[in-house]
Amino acid sequence: MRIDIFNTYDELSLKAKELIVQEIRKDKNLLLCTATGGSPTKTYELLGETYQKEPELFSGLRIIKLDEWGGIALDQPGSCESYLQKHVLQPLQIPEERYTGFNSNPENPNAECKRIQERLRKEGPIDLCILGIGMNGHIAFNEPAEFLEPFCHQAELSEMSLQHKMASGMQVKPTYGLTLGMADILHSKMIIILIHGTHKKEIAKKFLSKKISSSVPASFLWLHPNVICLIDSNAYES
Ligand code: PGA
Repeated sequence: MRIDIFNTYDELSLKAKELIVQEIRKDKNLLLCTATGGSPTKTYELLGETYQKEPELFSGLRIIKLDEWGGIALDQPGSCESYLQKHVLQPLQIPEERYTGFNSNPENPNAECKRIQERLRKEGPIDLCILGIGMNGHIAFNEPAEFLEPFCHQAELSEMSLQHKMASGMQVKPTYGLTLGMADILHSKMIIILIHGTHKKEIAKKFLSKKISSSVPASFLWLHPNVICLIDSNAYES
């Protein structure tokens, strides 16, 4: 794993943006998996600025949503969908046919997971996966547990995930998560994980200790040959 340390969130985000643009230049039809949350927001904002200058660069880009809160309305503030619409899909003008994402309130969550798995089978593998890390070490809604799940699944949300800013302010609380699984993520050709802020210091230390354990799902990224960890100095303990 390559680890790049930055002084500021802005510098980290600029690097992430540059890496994404570099990959899109290599493959216009790139399948980009997008995490939501605070970590990638600035990166997406910078990508939007690139779109303004060079819209044709994004004319083939395909997006897949990493995960979603379950049991809430899709357009509810705080949903991953609302986030992606605002920060990625609208700024980059991604049409429906180039977007794959879980419905947040399906009648049958298992059938919804199968639908996304099938879409991923057809469209995938993911070329570039953008991840954040949860305070508890989760990636997407692959939560710390005795066993991890390889494929798309309905996840039991940890207390810590429910306390995440996106969910804590919701009127209607999510009752589960919908998420790509560990193998779906690890089959990506390239992965960028973004870590910033002092609140991530403790989990970053565990993650970077190279001890692979299902109690820190992100630690499985050490098994992948092409991961770049972009971390700021507030989260990094040397
Ligand atoms: P954050 O969330 O980017 O808002 O820190 C990451 C996560 O909890 O997965």
